Amino acid sequence: MTTSPARILVVDDEKLIRWSVGERLQRGGYEVVSAESGEEALEAVASRPPDLMLLDVRLPGIDGLLTLQRALVQAPELAVIMMSAHSTVDIAVEAMKHGAIDFLVKPFPFQALDAAVERALTAARTRRQIEALTQERRGGGEALSALVGHSPGMEQVRAMVSRLSGSDATTVLVEGESGSGKEVVARAIHFSSGRAERPFLQVNCAALPEHLLESELFGHERGAFTDAHAQKRGLFESAEGGTVMLDEIGDLHAGGQAKLLRLLENKTFRRVGGVSELRADVRVLAATNVNLEQRVSEGRFRADLFFRLNVVRIVLPPLRDHPEDVPALCVHFIARFNEEMNGRVKGVSSAAMQLLQAHRWPGNVRELRNAVERAFILHAGVEELRPEHLTPELRGAAVAARRPEKPAAVAPDGLLLEDVERKLIQEALERSSGNQSRAARLLGISRDTLRYRLKKHGMG
Ligand SMILES: Nc1ncnc2c1ncn2[C@@H]1O[C@H](COP(=O)(O)OP(=O)(O)OP(=O)(O)O)[C@@H](O)[C@H]1O
Ligand SMILES: [Mg+2]
Repeated sequence: MTTSPARILVVDDEKLIRWSVGERLQRGGYEVVSAESGEEALEAVASRPPDLMLLDVRLPGIDGLLTLQRALVQAPELAVIMMSAHSTVDIAVEAMKHGAIDFLVKPFPFQALDAAVERALTAARTRRQIEALTQERRGGGEALSALVGHSPGMEQVRAMVSRLSGSDATTVLVEGESGSGKEVVARAIHFSSGRAERPFLQVNCAALPEHLLESELFGHERGAFTDAHAQKRGLFESAEGGTVMLDEIGDLHAGGQAKLLRLLENKTFRRVGGVSELRADVRVLAATNVNLEQRVSEGRFRADLFFRLNVVRIVLPPLRDHPEDVPALCVHFIARFNEEMNGRVKGVSSAAMQLLQAHRWPGNVRELRNAVERAFILHAGVEELRPEHLTPELRGAAVAARRPEKPAAVAPDGLLLEDVERKLIQEALERSSGNQSRAARLLGISRDTLRYRLKKHGMG
């Protein structure tokens, strides 16, 4: 955990208040910054959100209430205590509806200030812990316990992750085919480290064009490029104290590679269009499903960056190389879907298990999860998963040939493809109780494609 003192922003147009409150807090061991107006406060929050803001209600320019609302949009986790004169107590109460934690009526004794600050910081910390735990639980638990499988390959991965829990800064390269569990491992590393209460953020380096990715990662200054109307904090700033996972690192362009190397070596970076050096306290976890060494030898990835990332390497085996983990993974997903979908599945028939273990799983664990999920959706209420609950593909080509799926009949007077599509979508949505991600998986299309089609048919 980062043990640096809490940073408190004091916002008041009266110099005496800024000074006396600031002095008191500094003596209490806090780091204090101050602002004279709402505008100035918002700038400070945008460039680096404090842990706590003490905010006067009556301010020149934009008032305290508006400042509060805008600040919380920029930094939703920010704890805010309003400071109000007697005449503005009503507004302070109103502010609490908008997310302020507490208010102090001026003039207040220092003891009251100390107590309110302590309470607000504790409340903010608790909120972060709950968020961390919820994130950890989401998706069936993401800490070490979420890593299912005791094959030698998975044991090696587990051992690596737990060895890493003692070091909070080590850069790790996670390698593995798509769906093999790279994100599960990254989360396990984050949530078992001292950084668990700070953010875990990730970005897919292949998903954004060069300039957008750079501003996403490092932020940008106002006016850095045509659309940069305001200053923006990047991922490395938002994840302060936490972990950033860079997915598909092999696709990071040359400019991004240079900036990342600098960040890893000097712990500093610049926003796009910025001149000042900012410090970054983040751990970087890089993931790749391509062979990075090969990219290095092809001259597409910097060798120095590769070495810097490759401090510790974790290689996830493809599922076809550890079929002995398939039963445990099945149990894990069945338990999860029983809970999520009120299922009643108690077991898997041995014929079905044989099929599952024989499959090559090109989509790895994700494909297995989808297969189990599909069985739950299409065969609600079954107590045992049997071969007929699996896809024809899983049942094997031979089985599929013997029992062909009945093709949809074309009515004598013809049938519009559009209507068929609409019906299929409707059915998929019904079977998945309206859950679009699930319906999309049933249809074998992405969620975005489903959304597009819903729109097209006027269904969404
Ligand atoms: N060892 C494991 N134990 C439990 N669940 C796992 C395991 N490995 C993967 N999963 C599950 O499989 C799915 C895919 O895993 P994950 O997203 O981590 O894959 P990935 O390697 O990051 O894939 P991609 O390269 O496509 O990003 C997730 O639902 C994850 O929870
Ligand atoms: Mg992933």
